[in-house]
Amino acid sequence: MRTQVVIIGSGPSGLLLGQLLTDAGIDNVILDRVSKEYILGRVRAGVLEESTVRLLDEANAGKRMHAEGLPHDGFSLAFDGRDHRIDLFGLTGGKRVMVYGQTELTSDLMQRREETGGVSIHEAGNVVPHDFDGAAPYVTYEKDGITHRIDCDFIAGCDGFHGVSRKSVPDGAIRSYEKIYPFGWLGILAEVPPVNHELIYANHARGFALCSMRSTTRSRYYIQCALDEKIEDWSDDRFWDELRRRLPDFHAERVTTGPSFEKSIAPLRSFVAEPMRFNRLFLVGDAAHIVPPTGAKGLNLAASDVHYLFQGLLEHYKEKSDAGIEAYSSRALARIWKAVRFSWWMTTMMHRFPDTLDFDQKIQEAELDYLTHSRAASTALAENYVGLPF
Ligand code: APR
Ligand code: PHB
Repeated sequence: MRTQVVIIGSGPSGLLLGQLLTDAGIDNVILDRVSKEYILGRVRAGVLEESTVRLLDEANAGKRMHAEGLPHDGFSLAFDGRDHRIDLFGLTGGKRVMVYGQTELTSDLMQRREETGGVSIHEAGNVVPHDFDGAAPYVTYEKDGITHRIDCDFIAGCDGFHGVSRKSVPDGAIRSYEKIYPFGWLGILAEVPPVNHELIYANHARGFALCSMRSTTRSRYYIQCALDEKIEDWSDDRFWDELRRRLPDFHAERVTTGPSFEKSIAPLRSFVAEPMRFNRLFLVGDAAHIVPPTGAKGLNLAASDVHYLFQGLLEHYKEKSDAGIEAYSSRALARIWKAVRFSWWMTTMMHRFPDTLDFDQKIQEAELDYLTHSRAASTALAENYVGLPF
């Protein structure tokens, strides 16, 4: 088989890139090691920046998002028993975010791919990118006991943090930067109405908590937990009690509890790999970077990577120019590092760190005090939360 672009990974990065390429008449094949059903079973955050919404519209995959998504003009920071609303719309001159689950977005992109005849090969084993340092790269994979080969012009590594693409780059050609946080997030999904019409990020002496949602009837809640916590030690009742203890009383009293249908613990890390291009191989999305979910940047950074790479590939094929491809890594990384900074800053400000010094705790309190009493500081928070332009 031959195609112009092989995309490894059928998550948001791979599907969005694949749809933009298909709609532009650039032939591509997506390979994923798991089934569509497995991918759609993943529970992931869904706070979309306007630029991400625009890109989904460009891929003609935004119809259900506009119908079912929840536009949010602000969110709240809760600490010291009080609630401080960050007026995103007012502070950013009319920008907002769209709350729409990543699972739904992925499903919409998969449907668009089927409608437009995009080739996706699932349960592809042992996917390996070859000769991307030369001018004739190819990818091999195993399926039904046969080893297949796809010759191509370019390979897009959209295969996430644990994927094969980044690991295929020679050690000396790549540098990574990492920070592991000393806590995790215990999250649940429940068919109960959200406690608030907007998100609430809470900083409490017992730890961080987040009140989010998937719809007006499905809530998503998180509490900060120790890394050695075991999910089996957390009954629903224990979770609801702990969540309410971390919220201001007037919010805690209004939490609607109910049985969770998803419950999991996730570690938090910041990670960036540089560069993101290795001749004919490109790293995209989680394959190149990971952010703690506090700033809701993961999906939005995947979208901006896809935007930069798609523009570069479009110029290559349509205008016979490689300027965009050459600039991909530096353009993407400039935006990535600003989002990594913001996610680190919001995580540091809102979580309680084990063994923190009294001095550091006072600095955190001063940060929150300054943030909620300075228009300049809250404007900086707002412009990062709605997303820096791309
Ligand atoms: N071979 C083939 N496919 C692979 C391989 C491999 N060796 N390794 C991983 N994959 C597939 C996974 O099965 C997955 O479907 O690559 C896909 C990667 O998808 P994501 O991990 O969702 O990464 P990405 O598409 O970049 O989306 C980033 O997902 O993790 C969240 O917070 C993150 O919202 C952000 C978004
Ligand atoms: C979520 O709804 O899962 C979510 C929302 C905002 C975040 C993180 C997660 O910052």
